[in-house]
Amino acid sequence: MKTRLTELLGIKYPIVLGAMAWVSMAPLVAAVSNAGGTGVIGTGTMSAEALRREITRTRELTQNPFGVNLQMGAPNTAEQARVIVDEKPDFVTIGGGDPRVYFDDFKQAGIKVIAVVPTLKMARRMEGIGADALVIEGMEAGGHIGQTTTMALMSMVLPEIKKTPVIVAGGFADGRGLAAALIMGASGIQMGTAFLLAQECEVNQAVKQLIMSSDDTATIMTGQTRNHGFRGIKNSFTESYMKKETSGATLSELMEMGFGRYKMGLLEGDIQNGSVAAGQIIGMMHEERTSKDIIESVMREAEDILLNAHQIV
Ligand SMILES: Cc1cc2nc3c(=O)[nH]c(=O)nc-3n(C[C@H](O)[C@H](O)[C@H](O)COP(=O)(O)O)c2cc1C
Repeated sequence: MKTRLTELLGIKYPIVLGAMAWVSMAPLVAAVSNAGGTGVIGTGTMSAEALRREITRTRELTQNPFGVNLQMGAPNTAEQARVIVDEKPDFVTIGGGDPRVYFDDFKQAGIKVIAVVPTLKMARRMEGIGADALVIEGMEAGGHIGQTTTMALMSMVLPEIKKTPVIVAGGFADGRGLAAALIMGASGIQMGTAFLLAQECEVNQAVKQLIMSSDDTATIMTGQTRNHGFRGIKNSFTESYMKKETSGATLSELMEMGFGRYKMGLLEGDIQNGSVAAGQIIGMMHEERTSKDIIESVMREAEDILLNAHQIV
């Protein structure tokens, strides 16, 4: 399959593994890149040395293009950015704030810059300052999110952003989704939640079991009233978080409450007291598969739909 994204990154399929802090690590990133998509290392607040190690580890496992994520809110973004400039991964995805300060350094180092945005306004701004591609992410997605749905974003952004390839994210897990996105004018999709059940994904097994037994109503968006939206699976933690949020706690009190919960949930497997970031699409995820299987089944289904699409008209 050929799209502006596959051309830009030199990859076989227009499928990006969305960065997931501490979760999209070398084995998963490399597995996705080896299968013809492209992986992104989730950096979170990773130290410079840990990030360098993760990039080296990924290079040992794949020769194919992969990227590194930079979260503008992280306290050590500047030192992470220096490692990225040094190590020169194929591309960087940047979200969580205004990435302009790093654009020139990355571009001069020959690293493609992909901006992750939750609104039409940010999409316009990032195209304006020369992002090589955009990811528009809807509020169906797992992790930190904006307030607009994927479909509304696609409808508004895709006809307008013409110069820059657009990848869409939030709620994709199969070939029907990919086909629909391409028909609407996207150049590819980014999936995070769908890869939580990949065999190469090192989240705790209790998390994988929880996802397999969850339905379409299992997630909740917390933090929305403080402009700090986050989607994860409902549990005791989200219940007490919501109580605190609705009783008027400040953003810093809420952030303090969330401290350490992400690793507690996803990595240590405390699925009640930890935070289990995941998107709404968990409702259709029922089995653990290899990344290669996930990608090939998405591609097979999308190609089949696209080849037969003319029959509809
Ligand atoms: C567990 C988890 C952690 C995530 N962490 C990050 C992150 O560190 N940086 C980022 O830009 N996006 C992060 N995301 C968003 C993904 O990169 C991706 O855009 C999103 O998962 C796509 O929507 P989906 O969840 O419906 O597949 C995370 C998502 C999940 C599920």
